[in-house]
Amino acid sequence: MLKVTHPQWTTRFAFILAAAGSAVGLGNIWKFPYITGEYGGGAFVLVYLACIALIGVPVMMAEILLGRQGRQSPIRTMRSLAQAQGASSGWQVIGWMGVVAGFLILSFYSVIAGWAFAYIPEALSGNLNGLDKATAGALFGNLTASPWTLLFWHTLFMLLTALVVLRGVQAGLERLVRILMPALVGLLILLVGYAMASGRFLQGLDYLFSVNVQAVFYTCQAGTCTFTAEPLLVALGHAFFTLSLGMGAIMVYGAYMPPQASIASSALLVAAADTVIALLAGMAIFPLVFANDLAPGAGPGLVFVTLPIAFGSMPAGQWFGSLFFILLLIAAWSSAISLVEPAVAWLTERWQWCRIRATLSVTGLVWLLGIGSVLSFNHWSGPEYQWFGKTLFDLKDYLASNILLPLGGLLIALFTAWAAQRRFSEQGLALTRGFALWWWLIRYLAPLGIVLIFLHAIGLV
Ligand code: PHE
Repeated sequence: MLKVTHPQWTTRFAFILAAAGSAVGLGNIWKFPYITGEYGGGAFVLVYLACIALIGVPVMMAEILLGRQGRQSPIRTMRSLAQAQGASSGWQVIGWMGVVAGFLILSFYSVIAGWAFAYIPEALSGNLNGLDKATAGALFGNLTASPWTLLFWHTLFMLLTALVVLRGVQAGLERLVRILMPALVGLLILLVGYAMASGRFLQGLDYLFSVNVQAVFYTCQAGTCTFTAEPLLVALGHAFFTLSLGMGAIMVYGAYMPPQASIASSALLVAAADTVIALLAGMAIFPLVFANDLAPGAGPGLVFVTLPIAFGSMPAGQWFGSLFFILLLIAAWSSAISLVEPAVAWLTERWQWCRIRATLSVTGLVWLLGIGSVLSFNHWSGPEYQWFGKTLFDLKDYLASNILLPLGGLLIALFTAWAAQRRFSEQGLALTRGFALWWWLIRYLAPLGIVLIFLHAIGLV
């Protein structure tokens, strides 16, 4: 056994806060509404919720379990657990894929977090006051059209991320998230209240929750409709993305978890908080989308056009708006940290790099990759810079979220339930009840579900 080189969270609650800090981020407030809009509403939401409950939660428990039993970076954790279980050391590919996914995700995540950053001074200075559909659209359009502005905020965000990772994820993060979560939920509830009072609340709810299979899973042209499995894959990918699963972020946080803390209840709590926050965001945004005659499928700008209109017309909107974008930024920040932690932890273990060197190398590389995302909103937005009809930003998101994360989750499930002994999980989880259900989900349903959705998406079944 290698010696334990990493510190621990002080309590189980600290682990929950850190994991929730990783899970709750742009995925809930920016990505969930915009992809729900792109994929047509309720039926998509239903698939996403099913993926969270049936695949996400069991995989999250497995990922925390692996981390806690391995106690190192995901790459080394997988290697030593595989050794201990008499399985191939090839399982460390889970760790490697996770590092790649983390780089890809953060290299666009940081640019979007930069948008939230850029909106703070806009809100503070009163520039959002009285915005309407056209002026809000123009404000957002001007921001994304300027590569230098985007680069500036992207750089600032990466510096912030590096700052926390440098000091070690424990210091500061706990305190930050403890304040952030309640404040964020409070503001979202306020926004939902505003949407109730002035938006088309019922129409928004209807869009989010009434299941219209036709609208989501069929594309119709000239009277003939064909089934498309893409929304299935995107909903699955988003379940992984929003819970930070399949790439080692939760595994590395699990490695810092105290030995006696309950894994199952922690995973359930984190998944529940994450889901509630996403649904609140959806309930705040869609009524306003309809009230302002915006298109739900407008794409990545959806939230950044809709909410400024709301802040622009509510009493004290200048302050609520500023606070909201500050909280969104912090939420993104606490997620970004967990995206680099697996790579940083590995560099410090494997090569004995000091944290400063490891952090600066990783964040520096992500920053560089991020320039591609910056440009894909302006200079590289044209068709000559698109592959499969996707810009570099879309492509990175698609590859990481819809392919690498579910694939990582699949391998985590297979390792836990097929390569390792059943006793390994029984002892590690120490469940008094429900083990049989979890075992069935992680051994059969989750892997089968992921494989079927993959096969569906490439048109094989
Ligand atoms: N879960 C984060 C969010 O929803 C994003 C993330 C994905 C973080 C994967 C870590 C790992 O914003």
